[in-house]
Amino acid sequence: MTTLRNILITSALPYANGPIHIGHLVEYIQTDIWARFQKMRGHHCWYVCADDAHGTPIMLRARQEGITPETLIARIAAEHQADFAAFRIGFDNYHSTHSPENQHFSNLIYRRNHDAGHITRRIITQAYDPIEQMFLPDRFIKGECPKCGAANQYGDNCEVCGASYSPAELKNARSAISGAIPEQRESDHYFFQLADFETLLREWTRSGSLQKEVANKLDEWFTTGLQQWDISRDAPYFGFEIPDHPNKFFYVWLDAPIGYLASFQNLCDRTEGLDFEQFWAKDSTAELYHFIGKDIIYFHALFFPAMLHGAGFRVPSAIFAHGFLTVDGQKMSKSRGTFIKARTYLDHLNPEYLRYYFAAKLGSGVDDIDLNLEDFTARVNSDLVGKVVNIASRCSGFIHKHFAGQLAAELAHPTLFAEFIAAGDSIAVAYEQREFNRAVREIMALANRANQYIDEKAPWVIAKQPERQAELQAVCAMGINLFRVLIGYLRPILPGTAADSEAFLRIEPLTWAALATPLLAHEIAPFKPLMVRVDSAQITAMLEESKEDLTAMTTAPTAPVANPHLIRDPIAPAIDYDTFAKTDLRIALIREAKLVAGADKLLQLTLDLGGETRNVFAGIRSAYDPKELEGKLTVMVANLAPRKMRFGISEGMVLAAGPGGKDLFILNPDSGAEPGMKVK
Ligand code: MSP
Ligand code: ZN
Repeated sequence: MTTLRNILITSALPYANGPIHIGHLVEYIQTDIWARFQKMRGHHCWYVCADDAHGTPIMLRARQEGITPETLIARIAAEHQADFAAFRIGFDNYHSTHSPENQHFSNLIYRRNHDAGHITRRIITQAYDPIEQMFLPDRFIKGECPKCGAANQYGDNCEVCGASYSPAELKNARSAISGAIPEQRESDHYFFQLADFETLLREWTRSGSLQKEVANKLDEWFTTGLQQWDISRDAPYFGFEIPDHPNKFFYVWLDAPIGYLASFQNLCDRTEGLDFEQFWAKDSTAELYHFIGKDIIYFHALFFPAMLHGAGFRVPSAIFAHGFLTVDGQKMSKSRGTFIKARTYLDHLNPEYLRYYFAAKLGSGVDDIDLNLEDFTARVNSDLVGKVVNIASRCSGFIHKHFAGQLAAELAHPTLFAEFIAAGDSIAVAYEQREFNRAVREIMALANRANQYIDEKAPWVIAKQPERQAELQAVCAMGINLFRVLIGYLRPILPGTAADSEAFLRIEPLTWAALATPLLAHEIAPFKPLMVRVDSAQITAMLEESKEDLTAMTTAPTAPVANPHLIRDPIAPAIDYDTFAKTDLRIALIREAKLVAGADKLLQLTLDLGGETRNVFAGIRSAYDPKELEGKLTVMVANLAPRKMRFGISEGMVLAAGPGGKDLFILNPDSGAEPGMKVK
């Protein structure tokens, strides 16, 4: 048997300002499968995570909802943990970066790096909002793109032409929070001297344990040169105040990865015999792995190991980066309904399906993975329901009907059983190397073999021959034993189905080592269906529920109360009058209305604003016949930032109200309204 290892595993800490979605779940499911595998192998393995609770977006979101950041992060933490639990993500601890442990380690790591001369101070000039009295992160400055002139673009890059630039280059820049014209102000900031750690990082890259994609990225960054990193932010900020520097805060990305230490410390405090130092001390022989998305490699492969090393802690054994999720070949999209929240998925489908599908797709690299919904349905139905679960249902009926649930005392086909056990070595290697797709392929090949065995023996034929009762019991017990081994191999991927199967087999939770001992002369429980087929109607319903309408179909006071949108969507948090007054509503003439190929809810409208024309995609196809709309007047939000959609750029939004059919207009056509007129 292999020697026991001490392993600490983390997933990236999700931001506490939004719900968990199926993209996130790629990571938590991937990590959880690996952690469950290590535990099944008998290793001392711990899996910790936390909410990433600090930063400007969380501060502003709380303010917008009229609650404290503490209240917001407590609510989100509860939602996140409920979602994770439902997907059976088996964290050993789930903590928060807004915790005393994290403050302790952030201060400690900062202080040690500071005292060793790795942190410097200098004055920088930054955009400042004189109304909100705060410095503005790039994402909170908006203006016209310096390259293409598109309005309402963020301070770092243009969503219309894709140019990237500095906020100072934006034309007619405004604070996205108050609308004020930003001023340039000076402020004292702290910088982490990343270049001090170049030798350490180069050695770490060559240690051989990094994925080649991560090692290549590091090489690129060494070539460009390691930059200083600004680790401070000015008040107001939701985070930890820097020791001895009132009103200066640690930047959220400084304390976020330190949250891994904090969550583990919190676990140690609650767990007899678990020692923090054993995992984090400079000379630790424990293994430390961070599962992350490819978008956050820079923070984990450069800043984090450097800060740890600078503070006298060990560096990670490896960073395991994965790619991004696409749905049906495209980025997740709110308008297509493929931006699916964990909760929405759970309202329609069994979490085991998604765990299986992701496992079947995940390799050890950083390639994006695609959730193809048709393939998802087909694979779950044919592999899990049709092959694996089916073995148990095919055999257990006879065992109950003829033998009172009692399995035979000997295996009918010991060499086949031995083949199944021998295949476990290669499956274990695949799991260990995070090649879950290969593990699934090999397990499904065994499932085919098991079904073939049952087909050959045809227990339903034997059952009709009273003189062959012993053979019937042996064949069915053999099938049940093959099922047991398959479920053991799938257990890291399907913890719920495995638990139900263990109850059906009346056995202890399976370990990898236990699999080699067959289940003989043992009574099993009556069979209950372990998994049902996916019905494509469930998928359609899930997508429908995930769709966010592109038009304000619900603004009409005359809309029937039975409108499901009115019942389902809670009223959004109150906005003040000034915010509302920023909406520029104009009369628009619908010059042209066309169907959009591939989008059964949309119409493409050409709107005339009295000299200026706009291209707008509106989700009103079900209510309006395009030809009936041409020549009608409507009201549009004229200053909505352009949005890139699959079909083109939408430059505004129409406010459609009415019963549908030809009655789109809100104004009497002879009211004297003219295109371009401001609506008050
Ligand atoms: N809070 C930071 C991580 C701090 S770790 C010290 C963060 N949070 S996040 O909520 O945006 O993302 C959490 C993890 O989910 C990241 O590893 C991210 O790469 C991953 N994913 C988020 N969206 C994803 C997809 N659409 N697809 C796959 N993974 C995705 O980043
Ligand atoms: Zn542009």
